[in-house]
This record gives sequence, structure tokens and C-alpha cells, in this order.
Amino acid sequence: MGLAPPRGILLAGPSGTGKTAMARALSGEKQLPLIAIDGPQLYSKWLGESERALREVFKKARRAAPCILFFDTIDAVAPKFAEQSGTDMYQPILSQLLREIDNLRDVKGVILLTATNRPERIEPSLLRSGRFDYIVAFTKPEAAERAEILNVSCQRVPLAGDIDFVELAGRMEGFTGADIESVCEKATLLAIAGFQNGVRKAPFSVQRRDFATVLEEDNDGAKQFKNDVRGASGVTGDARFGALLK
Ligand SMILES: Nc1ncnc2c1ncn2[C@@H]1O[C@H](COP(=O)(O)OP(=O)(O)OP(=O)(O)O)[C@@H](O)[C@H]1O
Ligand SMILES: [Mg+2]
Repeated sequence: MGLAPPRGILLAGPSGTGKTAMARALSGEKQLPLIAIDGPQLYSKWLGESERALREVFKKARRAAPCILFFDTIDAVAPKFAEQSGTDMYQPILSQLLREIDNLRDVKGVILLTATNRPERIEPSLLRSGRFDYIVAFTKPEAAERAEILNVSCQRVPLAGDIDFVELAGRMEGFTGADIESVCEKATLLAIAGFQNGVRKAPFSVQRRDFATVLEEDNDGAKQFKNDVRGASGVTGDARFGALLK
């Protein structure tokens, strides 16, 4: 008597903690096709059109079984009634969604995977037992996990010998996996800029000071840094980078 595979799984946790990445990884690992749909994508200004789209998605999944049906940002499809600010535009879509999920019970091989970064906004009837077998909480990584994510994110980057992931991870308290990936990217861009400016000599490597610069930038606002990099048109020869690397 084999255990039946789980039917409904909800991945819940802050933005950037790897929920969408997990759905893709699961699909790859289990070699199951991923039928992915993002909550807000369902909405149509045409009456009845969203319900039709929803029906089509479930139909597609039933045909593709075995597969993973991945509903990202599920809170946008099924927000709590209380938060609907007096409109009933969600009601038909929510009813349709509940019906479709309940119908999946009789279908073999469709794993329903959903994700949200605002679980408190989800309509409780969707979470009622029987619809989701598991709710998996995604949290921001601890120091050791951050070091591991750094390691993975930098896998293809030539690193100078002065880089210590454990030390860097210690400085990234509160960072999500996405934040950490972004730090690696920015440090690499900085190093490239220095190299192309001729400030750095071959062989090319990303150094501790690149990470240090980015981490300080992050305290002041990662967005500004991103804009600077974009503004540097192809990252070459921009005076601001020269200044950063002195
Ligand atoms: N624990 C982790 N290990 C490795 N990479 C991670 C981890 N968490 C996040 N990432 C990376 O961060 C990026 C963003 O992650 P993802 O899009 O899956 O976040 P999310 O939880 O779906 O966020 P949102 O709620 O905003 O949709 C991805 O490139 C992913 O690979
Ligand atoms: Mg996501």
C-alpha cells in the first residue's frame, strides 16, 4: 500500500525566499511538466473571462497529468472576503477555484502547488483541510544557509582568495536568498567594471572589497546601486565605478 502523493501544497513565506524556485526545482527533479500560472495573470476586465481562464488551466493540467499545476501568488485569486473593499468581483473566481480544486480529487497525478508571500490574506475556505495537505513555511535563511547560498550563487564566478563566505554571511542578517544572489551579481559587476576600466589587472577575480562595497551600498539602498549600474551603460568606463574602486 503506497502512500498517495500529496494533492495540494501551499508554499508560504516572504518574497525572495525561493518559493517559485522550489516549484521549478521540484518539476525538474521529479521530471514532471510544470503548468505555471500567476494569480494576477488570470484577471480579465471581461465578465466571466477569468473563470473561463481558470477552467482552461485546470483542464490543461488534467490533460497533462502527471504534472505539477503551479499557482503563484494565490492570494491574488482568493483574497479574504473582508478585504475586498465592498466589491464581489472575486466571488465567482473564488467559487470556481474551490470547485476546480475539489474536482482534482478524482484526478490522478495532478499535484497542486501554490505559493504566497501573504498567507494572512488568503480566503480561509481555500485553506480548509482537504484542499491542501501541506503548508510549507519558507523563512529567511540562517547564517549557515546564507553561506551555502553564497557558495551556490558564486559557483561560476572566479573568486579571489580573500573571500570568506562564512564571514560574509554573518554580515547578511535578514537577507533572503534573492538578496544574496543579488549581492553576488552586484559584486561581480563591480569587479568587471574595475577590470574593464583598467583599474584591476588580470587575472580577473571578484574580491572581498567588491562584496564589502556592495554590502555597504545595501545599507544605504540597494536600488540606488542598481540604478548606478544601469546608468553606467554596459558597466564600462564609468567614473563612478572608478571612484568606487580606488
Ligand atoms: N534558499 C535559497 N537558496 C538558493 N537560492 C535561493 C534561495 N531562496 C531564494 N533563492 C533565489 O532567489 C531568487 C528569487 O527566489 P524566488 O523567486 O523563488 O522567490 P519567491 O519566494 O518566489 O519570492 P516572491 O514571493 O517574491 O515570488 C531565485 O533566483 C532563487 O534561486
Ligand atoms: Mg515567487
